[in-house]
Amino acid sequence: MQTHQFEVLVVGAGGAGLMAGLYASKTAKTAVISKLYPTRSHTGTAQGGIGAALGNIEEDHPEWHTYDTVKGSDYLGDQDAIEFMCEEALQAVYELEHMGLPFDRTPDGKISQRPFGGHTNNLTGKPVRRACHAADRTGHMILQTLYQQCLKNNVTFYDEFQVVDLILVDGAAAGAIAVEIASGETHIFHAKAVILATGGHGRIWEITSNAYAFTGDGPAITLRHGLPLEDMEFFQFHPTGIYKLGILITEGVRGEGGVLINGKGERFMERYAPTVKDLASRDVTSRAIYLEIRDGNGVNGQNYVYLDVRPEQVNKYAAIDGRKTPAGAPYTVTGEQILARLPDIVDFCRVYLGVDPITQPMPIQPTAHYAMGGIPTNKYGEALANEKGKIVPGLYAAGEVACVSVHGANRLGTNSLLDLVVFGKHAGLRAAEFATSAEYRHLPPDPAAFARLQFERIFQADGKDNAFDIATEMKKVMFDGMGVFRTREGMQAALETVRELKERFKHVGVTDTGKIFNLEMMNVWELGNLLDLAEVTTVSALARTESRGGHSREDFPQRDDKRWLKHTFAFVDERGKVELKYKPVVITRFEPKVRTY
Ligand code: FUM
Repeated sequence: MQTHQFEVLVVGAGGAGLMAGLYASKTAKTAVISKLYPTRSHTGTAQGGIGAALGNIEEDHPEWHTYDTVKGSDYLGDQDAIEFMCEEALQAVYELEHMGLPFDRTPDGKISQRPFGGHTNNLTGKPVRRACHAADRTGHMILQTLYQQCLKNNVTFYDEFQVVDLILVDGAAAGAIAVEIASGETHIFHAKAVILATGGHGRIWEITSNAYAFTGDGPAITLRHGLPLEDMEFFQFHPTGIYKLGILITEGVRGEGGVLINGKGERFMERYAPTVKDLASRDVTSRAIYLEIRDGNGVNGQNYVYLDVRPEQVNKYAAIDGRKTPAGAPYTVTGEQILARLPDIVDFCRVYLGVDPITQPMPIQPTAHYAMGGIPTNKYGEALANEKGKIVPGLYAAGEVACVSVHGANRLGTNSLLDLVVFGKHAGLRAAEFATSAEYRHLPPDPAAFARLQFERIFQADGKDNAFDIATEMKKVMFDGMGVFRTREGMQAALETVRELKERFKHVGVTDTGKIFNLEMMNVWELGNLLDLAEVTTVSALARTESRGGHSREDFPQRDDKRWLKHTFAFVDERGKVELKYKPVVITRFEPKVRTY
């Protein structure tokens, strides 16, 4: 077994991991391990833009961005952290620009910005252009840019290394255990500080925009060490996934003027969000689509509606809305402009659907997209051991795996890229600072013991059940019971099934008993992570007897600030029982109000 020693170890090479690695490496010996080659990380699928109130095209302010984010979070976001993120946004975007990120430009050479859901001019309530974009490949460009910077800064990369455990000594992080996928060898990474940036866990659901790699490895590992997960009941459904496939169709489509149309040919969002219409926050828009489908207004009676960005439709509705260009002329688009601004979307639809968005509307449905919950941290990325704010020395988390909490009950589009850049940077800085004054902790005699045990169990299982069946059932029951709308009965049914599946999972083995590229074994281990997180998500949701943001209960349709303006902290005890505790929300300037869009 090989042992490596680094002052700072980053786990995950998406935007947050690369930003953390880049900043940590300025003063500390830093390694990044990732189960994927870095530029294949899920950040690369983020499309429409990164939010920052640059005001390049029209008036905007970080305070407006802050308010929109608080409101978008349904008042569950911690306002001190949100203020911090929205203030830092400007510097973060300019820094990416100076690193070479090829943002689209305005005619006078500034970074171009487009409207996105829930981002508004706070005076008029109308959409504001705040999303800084590189066509519909903004995440891809961030990933490429940061990876190049990391290479330039001599960050050491261990590509295709799957993290399987965290080393904690006396309650402090001391490293991680990883399996090199190519050889099956176990490696010990001894570190003074560990930053988890492993991304989300959207593969719990049947229809999802998430990559196959999004199996919640980081939070499942910390949970097994008795550490909490925060606000797991809040999982975002993006309104526009490709029908049945779940592949993301960026909100940037609606930013460019696309509209949602039901089976009766109606632009239904004007009934649900009269001011911003198709650019309401995602929770509001996903619910509206579901309600239309439930009322029989899906297209051809099916479970989808249309997203329409055909130029004639865009121009018609832009005229109705009185939408103007920055120069004050009526807003219009051509097919060539749609292709230039949304090249990947056009491509995805042509390839996966045989639909050409320039001449045909796109069939879409809400798709499981983003975990608002995760490993609790403060705004410097320091992981929290409990609801009282106790810090786990040497442990950090950033990006989707973390819950700072800036997204509260519902994230605004473009704020995930912003989150990972801002908090990735601060986690990297804080971890490096910690590492310069800390000593390496003595490792336990057999640091890989627990990891080995998990894999021995898989190799020795009787094989009476198989991973594919269990995963299929989990995804279905979670989509049905823990989706856009929830009821006690649906959630209870999901929980009971997930618990049965966890029992059946004990019998799941592998047919490949070799070591080289044993992805079957890795997939089984990842399924265990998803099942653990599905249970915690459902238990947290059942307890919350209100509707807020992405947690919409038909049996408790109102938000209940008196009882539920608080964060959930879920722990799993040694017997595997989920225990819930709560932490107050930080309110600075904005008292909770009823949301309208
Ligand atoms: O719609 C989108 O482009 C997705 C962006 C996001 O999740 O922030």
